[in-house]
Amino acid sequence: MALLQWSDDLAVNIEFIDSQHRELMNGVNHLHSMATQSPPDQGRISDALFQLLEHAMNHFIAEEEMFQRLEFPELPEYKSHNDAFNLKAQSIIQELGDNPTLCSDTLEYLKNWLTEHILAKDKSYAKFLNRNGIN
Ligand SMILES: [Fe+2]
Repeated sequence: MALLQWSDDLAVNIEFIDSQHRELMNGVNHLHSMATQSPPDQGRISDALFQLLEHAMNHFIAEEEMFQRLEFPELPEYKSHNDAFNLKAQSIIQELGDNPTLCSDTLEYLKNWLTEHILAKDKSYAKFLNRNGIN
């Protein structure tokens, strides 16, 4: 069973952002399904995790560029939320180099981070963007 399930409650109603969020969710689900296989393929898990973190960082860049264009007043707060994730992502990548096992803590962190990113952060800016004609 998938770890994360897409629902309309998660939609911010901005097409490219919803599509990127779905891809990130698929990435977390993919990792979860690989980690629960017996025996887990650590090489493929490492590659998939690395790719997911890269997608997440690119997603932040796309959102931040859009906010900058629209002079979104809460950009500094939003950036600090993303920066915290980027730091954590770097430490995950570093740990991965030492020990390629994807531990359940990492998976739980990614699941919680993505849910919070969408529900607590992105949902709050969606109205601002929709008012600026972005959808
Ligand atoms: Fe987002």
